[in-house]
Amino acid sequence: MNKELEMKVADAIRDPKNVGEMPDADSVGTVGNSECGEMLRMWVKYKEKDGEKIIDKASFQSFGCETAIAVASLATELIKGKTADEAIELKPEELSGELGPLPPMKIHCAELVQGALRSALSPQEKEMKTQSADQPGNKLSPTLQDSLNQGQSQSGGELKIKFLDEQN
Ligand code: FES
Repeated sequence: MNKELEMKVADAIRDPKNVGEMPDADSVGTVGNSECGEMLRMWVKYKEKDGEKIIDKASFQSFGCETAIAVASLATELIKGKTADEAIELKPEELSGELGPLPPMKIHCAELVQGALRSALSPQEKEMKTQSADQPGNKLSPTLQDSLNQGQSQSGGELKIKFLDEQN
């Protein structure tokens, strides 16, 4: 990683924006990268504006590298005010825009953020929320740590992590 990028990443993670679970989120998405072992979860909350459903706020938790955290921080700011369709269309280089071009070995960090975002914005995730809303005690927005612990303790594999390289 070049010095300039290193400094921008360091700046971004010194005060990352929108870190943490969002208990009142409308949807949540989690992805993992099987090669580097990084994981990222994103929460999204919508609001109505001028008759359109737009993203009000987003947050994230990460067991990711510094670049993934920096991109997630930027991305959660970037998608505010966009519709789900607009946000889904954002490419990794747009999500990491302020950092400048990422070196080839770090492009997957931005793809991890894109994957989590797409997972959170996908209709399937919204459906899951609708289905779970009536079930008392059904926690829509567990922390990433909760999910990992749950996944480890259940042989059935309740942990819902999509590995990016399995999508292709
Ligand atoms: Fe894998 Fe950054 S090194 S997400």
